[in-house]
This record gives sequence, structure tokens and C-alpha cells, in this order.
Amino acid sequence: MELLTRKFIKDNRLNCSREKAIDALCNAKRVGVLTGAGISAESGIATFRGEDGLWNKLNPEELAGMSGFLKNPQLVWEWYQYRRNIIENVKPNAAHIALAEMESFYPEYSISTQNIDGLHQRAGSQTVFELHGNILRNRCMECGVTLQDDHIDEQMGIPKCSCGGLVRPNVVWFGEPLPESILTTSFEVARHADVYFSIGTSAAVYPAAYLPIEALYHGAFVIEINLEPTELTPLANTSLQGKAGEMLPALWQDVKCKVTA
Ligand code: OAD
Repeated sequence: MELLTRKFIKDNRLNCSREKAIDALCNAKRVGVLTGAGISAESGIATFRGEDGLWNKLNPEELAGMSGFLKNPQLVWEWYQYRRNIIENVKPNAAHIALAEMESFYPEYSISTQNIDGLHQRAGSQTVFELHGNILRNRCMECGVTLQDDHIDEQMGIPKCSCGGLVRPNVVWFGEPLPESILTTSFEVARHADVYFSIGTSAAVYPAAYLPIEALYHGAFVIEINLEPTELTPLANTSLQGKAGEMLPALWQDVKCKVTA
């Protein structure tokens, strides 16, 4: 009985909270979104942390850092080519699609993503700030020119630029700064948002993890969607625990129903 009562209180609290999130989304004009690896998990792309996270099995210093790249560029390239092949063969899921749909609904709307997979754009999102770069782009470490992925021949080993410089994936590695204008714009969005989402991110990697906190600090209604609690959970106005591909389309459906009612 006690267990049942506790469950009722918990469910009731979550339901109330979800209702408030729906109200906030119905009344919002400016919506910002931060996404992380969890939003692409249902498309078949592995996350970094958590039970099956990549960083449980692999060493980020070897594979996602300049010193690892300089030590063994072949290994790093093989790992990125392996991930590119996965990404090219998966599709955006229902969460990506719901976020893309929201864009035409709000006068000010953007997604800041830590993901490098391009799935938001493939789902139809137009305003996407890639905080950690994009795996399908590469750049020369010597002259800085950006090269699209189709310029990279998988058979040729470590790619070189026409200037002779070593080519690297155009992603942000550990210890590297994030692209300044993208970061600045993402913080501006967070500061001005009426509603701010944090979806499928462990909220453990900074500076991206500051974005929902910045939004909270400036008065936004913050909605978190994640499989499990994170450091943001106790701070968020609403925290929905479950799969993004299920929770987000359901939430968005309820918002649309309420707006048109
Ligand atoms: P993480 O792997 O740290 O976190 C993924 C989060 O998604 C976890 O909190 C999971 O609980 C949650 N999750 C998993 N499946 C989900 C689902 N179907 N629906 C909702 N949530 C789900 O990924 P990020 O927070 O994106 O950086 O990691 C941030 C950065 O750390 C990455 O961009 C990468 C990594 O090292 C660099 O490589 C620079």
C-alpha cells in the first residue's frame, strides 16, 4: 500500500509537471534546444557514457584528442571512418523529426547539438548549431581548408591535403575550444529562450552543459528528456524520463492538440 501511495505521488507529480511543460510550450515564442548522443541512440548510434557507452570500452584520449591523433593517425582515421559508415546508414528518428517540425511553429527556434552526425539536418531542421563539428567534414591541419567527406578516399590511408598537410576530421576533440561564434550564438539563444530543452545528454561535458543552466538562470522553462537522471534533473522545471523518440513526439502531439483546441 505504501509503495502504491508513493508511486501515485510520484506519477502525479510527474504528470503535473508534464502539464506545465505543455503550457509553457503552448505560450512560448522563443524555444532553444540542446541535444546530445542520446537523441541519436534510437537511430542506432552509440552514446558515450552509460551502460553501453563508447567511453566504457574505448580510450577517448587515443581516439578523440590531438595527442592520440598525432601518435596514431591511422587508428583515429579508421575509427572515424567506421563511425561515418554507421552514420551514413542510419536515419533520423521520431525525436529528430518532432524537433524539425517544431521549427515552423515558433518564431525563434534553434538547436544546439553536441552531435556530429548531421541527423537533425537530415530530419529537416534548418537552424542547427553544431557545437562539436560534423563528422562528414574534414580539415587540413596545415592550411585549414575544409574538405567534404566525399574527398576522402577510404583506401588511401591517412588523407593528405593538396598542400601536403595532414587532414583531420572537422570535429572538436577533448581539450580543443568550441567554434566561437556557434558557442556565442548558442548562449544568446539560451539567455533569451522562453522554453529550453535538454535532450539525450548526460549534461556532463562543458561548456555545452552550461546552456540549459544559462537558460534557467535567465528565466526559461527548462524541460529535460533523458533515459535516466542527470545533474540537470534536480534543476529542470520538468524532467521526463524515457526514450526521446517516444517522449518528445508524445509531448509535441499534446502541445499541438492544446493549441488547436
Ligand atoms: P553521453 O553519452 O554522455 O550521454 C548520453 C545521454 O543520453 C545519457 O544521459 C543517456 O542516459 C541518454 N540516453 C541514451 N539513450 C537515450 C534515449 N533513447 N532517449 C533519451 N536519452 C537517452 O552523450 P553527450 O551528453 O552527448 O564529445 O556527450 C557529450 C560529449 O561527450 C559528446 O559530444 C562527446 C563526448 O565525449 C566529444 O567527443 C568532444
